Amino acid sequence: MSSRNVLQGEGVTLYFGGLAALKGVDFHVDEGEIVGLIGPNGSGKSSLFNLISGLMRPTHGRITFLGHDLARFRPHQIAHLGVGRTFQIVRPFAELTTLQNVTASALYGQRLASVVEAEHRARDTLRFVGLVDHHDQPVRDLPLAFKKRLEIARALATGPKLLLLDEVFAGLNPVEIDGAIELIFRIRDELDITVFMIEHVMKAAMQTCQRIMVLGEGKKIAEGLPQDIARDAAVLAAYLGPAYA
Ligand SMILES: Nc1ncnc2c1ncn2[C@@H]1O[C@H](COP(=O)(O)OP(=O)(O)OP(=O)(O)O)[C@@H](O)[C@H]1O
Ligand SMILES: [Mg+2]
Repeated sequence: MSSRNVLQGEGVTLYFGGLAALKGVDFHVDEGEIVGLIGPNGSGKSSLFNLISGLMRPTHGRITFLGHDLARFRPHQIAHLGVGRTFQIVRPFAELTTLQNVTASALYGQRLASVVEAEHRARDTLRFVGLVDHHDQPVRDLPLAFKKRLEIARALATGPKLLLLDEVFAGLNPVEIDGAIELIFRIRDELDITVFMIEHVMKAAMQTCQRIMVLGEGKKIAEGLPQDIARDAAVLAAYLGPAYA
């Protein structure tokens, strides 16, 4: 597996008024990796994804994707470059069917010749995530685990080289989590997509990620192999309070 750099951030800082959501964060994701991003509530994880996908701009610092400085691009252009993402709060078009939702994403993310081509691509993507039997079901009727899969399908249909997953395990039961972990490995191995994933469920992040980066109050407080992160004093202190470290 090559170790070409896909995503890189240097000194990434984001202020909301007087509040610094991110403070001087350096990070990188290499081709073919599954990298985890963990940290307590409000530590800046989703904000970092908002910067990478172009929904917000860093106050200071720089993010590059395959050598492109992302400050020069708008969200749809970043999608065209090959960054796909899911949202922590799933946001499908609830009244539309799963197929219609994924078709819309295919049209948004790729320069396809026709709606027919987008729909073809959407059907393949639904098959990949295991939802093709539900293609004509309105999304509002789906159980949460299927809504999460649909969210992943919508991101995949944009044709990403890098997939950003924001807490896709949240609210799932243990069996559903195992299914989602398997899906993430298939995305990396069968579709050759690099994965950068936010996870709150530490155990799930440990099982899925080969490298984990930890945010605490907007700063990077640790980075390394899952087994080392699980024992890291600064990480335990951030999650449990200084008394436990
Ligand atoms: N649009 C916004 N306007 C103002 N403050 C914001 C905005 N988005 C996030 N914040 C603040 O920035 C900080 C980081 O939030 P962020 O959502 O990135 O955290 P997170 O690590 O994803 O948390 P969680 O685990 O709860 O999802 C928090 O203090 C949050 O209140
Ligand atoms: Mg978040």
